[in-house]
Amino acid sequence: MKYLVANWKMNSVDLDLWEKKFLKVIDSEKDFPKSHEVKLIVCLNLYDYQLFSKKIQSSKNQIFQNIILYAQDVSRYEEGAHTGQISSHYLKNIGLEGSIVGHSELRENGDTENIVFQKGLKLKEQGLSNIFCIGEDLATLESSEKKSFLLNQLEAFCKKDVEPNLLAYEPIWAIGTGIEADSENIKSSVSIINDFLEQKKINTSILYGGSVSVENIHEIISIPGIEGCLVGNSSLDGEQFAIIASKITG
Ligand code: PGA
Repeated sequence: MKYLVANWKMNSVDLDLWEKKFLKVIDSEKDFPKSHEVKLIVCLNLYDYQLFSKKIQSSKNQIFQNIILYAQDVSRYEEGAHTGQISSHYLKNIGLEGSIVGHSELRENGDTENIVFQKGLKLKEQGLSNIFCIGEDLATLESSEKKSFLLNQLEAFCKKDVEPNLLAYEPIWAIGTGIEADSENIKSSVSIINDFLEQKKINTSILYGGSVSVENIHEIISIPGIEGCLVGNSSLDGEQFAIIASKITG
């Protein structure tokens, strides 16, 4: 099973157009992977969620119907005076299946390793899934501290029965920059992550994120150990997202 995750972030997406362009690719691609070959997940804001989930429910297309919806963030708190935050309980009630945690854009906004862990815990308490993001910045990479940095992020999250349901390796310097990480860097990160997961007996799939596009998806998905991708910019267009999905099974 491969995974393709769209992260729409705070971008406005024309949902009708997205669906139309997505379906156009599916209709023209006879070999489009089946739902048991690739799981498609869209992480969106709650307003779009209300509209998009209705589209999914009323769609006659099986691939579109099987798109799974996740939030982009969750509160580390249960409830109370936390202006602007959304609890895992609420996400569950309205029907979302999980959330991203630890995205670098939220880490930049103050999410520490401990906060990321607490968010993972809140999702778990509600039986929701997480997509746990990790990744080094350029200074860490250049000072050869990548290994200890990634291990620290992994250690801080994987405790008290919390573990990644999907793990996205996203080097910060590759996010939104148009510069995807080179295969050697991705391979070495996958090996660091896999050693850790093996040692802790955690079974999860590793995804890559950072400037994934129609042009580079084939190269990225061919890297051993990469079982999917998390896509920002290129997921905003239904056609590009569907083309990436069509190439993800190799
Ligand atoms: P990008 O974003 O594909 O635009 O680099 C990826 C991400 O932030 O997850």
